[in-house]
Amino acid sequence: MRLENNQKKKRTKWWIALGATVTILAGASLGALSAYNWSPEETIEGLFGTSATTSISQNNHEERSIDEDIKEITRTDKDDDAPIDEPAEDGDTVYPDEPERTPETLEEPIYVKDVLIANKQYPLPSGYAPGENPEARAAYNEMQAAALEAGYSLVAFSTYRSYDYQTDLYNRYVEQHGQEEADRFSARPGYSEHQTGLGFDIGAEGQEEHWASDSFKDTEEAKWLAENAHQYGFILRYPAGKEHITGYQYESWHFRYLGKDLATKVYNSGLTLEEYLGI
Ligand code: DAL
Ligand code: ZN
Repeated sequence: MRLENNQKKKRTKWWIALGATVTILAGASLGALSAYNWSPEETIEGLFGTSATTSISQNNHEERSIDEDIKEITRTDKDDDAPIDEPAEDGDTVYPDEPERTPETLEEPIYVKDVLIANKQYPLPSGYAPGENPEARAAYNEMQAAALEAGYSLVAFSTYRSYDYQTDLYNRYVEQHGQEEADRFSARPGYSEHQTGLGFDIGAEGQEEHWASDSFKDTEEAKWLAENAHQYGFILRYPAGKEHITGYQYESWHFRYLGKDLATKVYNSGLTLEEYLGI
């Protein structure tokens, strides 16, 4: 009897095991199928790694709000014809490990060949707070009027940013994306060109979804700016494929005021500001 009982128990366990296996396999197949049906593209890309989505956050064109005005910077390689910016390598423009100067120790901003410079090697004093540059604003207004004539309505959605504002902004990005990623698209406090009052983030009126977004580059306004901004004294400061020189990923919306002569020379040279100044 005991033997029979043991055999029955064994048989029962075997059936239970078989049933469980069949249930798990069926569940897994159904799950895979439904994932495929819900979002075939994403699932396939996810499985085979063909999606080159780089999250600067960014990415997947989800938008982060900086305040109300600055949005998620997004980049997906598959819709980007421009050269792809790679993470920093040796020799690239990065924050020095042992900086000669810091925003806290620096007393005056640094000019190279008479050009006020702010980048990862050249900080600004933390107390430097000039506000928006009036000459740059006047030039922007002139450019805005010319763009309007051409049928494009521009908006400067972020210009002067104080050291404290940049601190909050940068810290938020670090929390959201980690420092390594944040450093590719946001300046640390004391290193932002926006603190000079000469950096203008420009978008198109009524197209807030493209503001500070990789998608801005494909708009007519962005194309107009890329071709014409130098005539009004602005250069596209962080061009595509130059992250290793400028320290930042492509920002089709960030323009730096240099004055008409210099902006035109830099534009015609095809160089970044760093290359043009030899720094
Ligand atoms: N997004 C630019 C690099 C800045 O934060 O100044
Ligand atoms: Zn900017």
